[in-house]
Amino acid sequence: MQSFDMEALLRAVEAPLYWVGAFTAAWVSVWLMYRLLSGLRIWVLGNGQLISTKLGKWAVVTGATDGIGKAYAEELARRGFAMMLISRSQEKLDDVAHSLESRFKVETKTIAVDFGSIDIYPKIEAGLAGLEIGVLVNNVGISYTYPEFFLNVPDLDNFINTMINVNITSVCQMTRLVLPRMVERSKGVILNISSASGMYPVPLLTIYSSTKAFVDFFSRGLHAEYKSKGIIIQSVLPFFVATKMTKIRKPTLDKPTPERYVAAELTTVGLQSQTNGYLPHAIMGWVTTVLVPINLVIHFGMQMGKAQRAGYLRRRKQR
Ligand SMILES: NC(=O)c1ccc[n+]([C@@H]2O[C@H](COP(=O)([O-])OP(=O)(O)OC[C@H]3O[C@@H](n4cnc5c(N)ncnc54)[C@H](OP(=O)(O)O)[C@@H]3O)[C@@H](O)[C@H]2O)c1
Repeated sequence: MQSFDMEALLRAVEAPLYWVGAFTAAWVSVWLMYRLLSGLRIWVLGNGQLISTKLGKWAVVTGATDGIGKAYAEELARRGFAMMLISRSQEKLDDVAHSLESRFKVETKTIAVDFGSIDIYPKIEAGLAGLEIGVLVNNVGISYTYPEFFLNVPDLDNFINTMINVNITSVCQMTRLVLPRMVERSKGVILNISSASGMYPVPLLTIYSSTKAFVDFFSRGLHAEYKSKGIIIQSVLPFFVATKMTKIRKPTLDKPTPERYVAAELTTVGLQSQTNGYLPHAIMGWVTTVLVPINLVIHFGMQMGKAQRAGYLRRRKQR
């Protein structure tokens, strides 16, 4: 009697189970196909032509004298943009400006300011007056000298203010100055350089990680507000790039040169409003946000930070 009931039950659920299975398999296949095609669209075909002087004559880059910012300045000048370079040291700005003028035959202007201060924006506003700006790269950013517990960060009071001013205030204020004329002209691209450290909390780099999460949220919110007005605002979240900030001297596939990173990143503009910018980084982003539980990512971040901190403090003692 019991086996008869079981068979009847199995027969009753056979058809619904078949359809649930078929629907799931179809859904997963369509999803995989969509992911594969959009991956090909972004990383193989790209959108390399979108960033051109059709957006406007000038491109503005903050933190333009080194690393990722300098690589953006070079790539944008190569595409024919007149370049407004903004950084701290006038001497370094002059070097980069002369190099761009002679290599790419473009006009350049410079503004020397310290983004650690908040009284610099009238000077920047005056320098930008009358320029038709097609692209703004909010790149300037600073990190920790070494991973450290919040309360042990040297000169914590100043450190907090400086990091917020450089990493957060600069992005909001530069956008305030540039966006209105982009909206008037119904075109423009703003690239905000956040960091993979903004995708989840990174212990011992907590203030940096939090400022970069702000940049990511700010960019995505603003993109939703202004995309219908023809403006693209992209949140860029790189993992390691071989620059002065990371002290990585030997580039590898997963820690590319800034030039290689920027060349890849620019092909994603208009295709992704939030991007890791470079295929190996996109894979790392996918693994760390989709496959690995967030608590494990934070735990590994803490272990890595502790090891780096110990190494740094040991080397400092030996000096
Ligand atoms: N490198 C990476 O692995 C990585 C990963 C994720 C995100 N990012 C982000 O990418 C951006 C660029 O990083 P990077 O590695 O290229 O940095 P970098 O090599 O240290 O270059 C920083 C640039 O910003 C300028 N700068 C620094 N502090 C400034 C200040 N207070 N006022 C004005 N200019 C200032 C520097 O000019 P001076 O030399 O004249 O000071 C330099 O031109 C940052 O926002 C960073 O958070 C980097």
